[in-house]
Amino acid sequence: MRSPMQQFIVSLPKAELHLHIEGTLEPEMAFQLAAKHGVVLPYASIEAMRQAYQFSNLQSFLDIYYAGAELLRDEADFHALTAAYLRKAHSQGVVHVEIFFDPQTHTQRGVAFDSVVGGIRRALLEAERELGITHRLILCFLRHLSAEEAMRTLEQVLPFGDVIAGVGLDSSEAGHPPSKFAAVFDRARRAGLLAVAHAGEEGPAAYISEALDVLQVRRIDHGVRCEEDPELVRRLVRERVPLTVCPLSNIRLRVFDRMEAHNLKRLLELGVCVTVNSDDPAYFGGYLLENYLAVQQALDLSKANLALLARNSIEASFLAQSEQRRWFAAIDAVAAADQLAFR
Ligand code: HPA
Ligand code: ZN
Repeated sequence: MRSPMQQFIVSLPKAELHLHIEGTLEPEMAFQLAAKHGVVLPYASIEAMRQAYQFSNLQSFLDIYYAGAELLRDEADFHALTAAYLRKAHSQGVVHVEIFFDPQTHTQRGVAFDSVVGGIRRALLEAERELGITHRLILCFLRHLSAEEAMRTLEQVLPFGDVIAGVGLDSSEAGHPPSKFAAVFDRARRAGLLAVAHAGEEGPAAYISEALDVLQVRRIDHGVRCEEDPELVRRLVRERVPLTVCPLSNIRLRVFDRMEAHNLKRLLELGVCVTVNSDDPAYFGGYLLENYLAVQQALDLSKANLALLARNSIEASFLAQSEQRRWFAAIDAVAAADQLAFR
């Protein structure tokens, strides 16, 4: 049974804008794929696997995340993974998803790019038809690899045209500033791709400014360290640059030591276009509903705050304005039913 607060969150139409599809691999599916591919996992049971998800920082998570991704080997695996995520998201009131995938993680070990994109895309199109969830697909470059490798990956995907909506930047942040990928992002933007980047998760606020100035990104993934530079925060408000914040991820990777210390509410009240997202839900203990609920409880968010977060997620999405207006009206209707003034 869902509590009234959970029901309220589910009833708000929401977009999820920061979700790594490889990070939705639940231990149950990992064991199924291991059996299918004849792989012996270093865990005695599904429960033991879940228990092993204890992280001290971003890198300690990435090591386990990349090991898990090795179980994804053919088109059917990527399809099953994506379909399971979309069913879950739909059950929590997610109406639009912008999904990251890391092609280099797969092509480096001999999995064909077509199998990766083909499986993900088939599940996205089915979910659009059957569940009404709309989508965009965003290719992330691994920032711990070279800019040349990122450029080669980009050249590989350009023929796929409108299948890929944009490019992003993920993996180990510290020591890999956005400017390392300036030429790759230039080329991507010239080809009509939208740009986003992880910045200000473990890296400094200066990486956020660099992502905006050098990579010309439309949103910042995470971005919570922006507070270290008050002028940057004022810029985010002024230019309405969205942040795709991932609360449970931030606690599990020790960006904040407890949820009560998270700056999401403060940023929201300052007027930053903050959104809530799940990042890698199979590893961080919850999907979108659990992320909304965790910040609602720890930061005592009002229903009006929650409606604003949902509205921000639509505004920050790459949906056309006409589609955004439709969802704004639907959110207004949910708020009106509760007599909320949230804007
Ligand atoms: N940060 C960087 N790289 C990632 C993340 C993240 O939160 N999730 C998956 N790859
Ligand atoms: Zn991420």
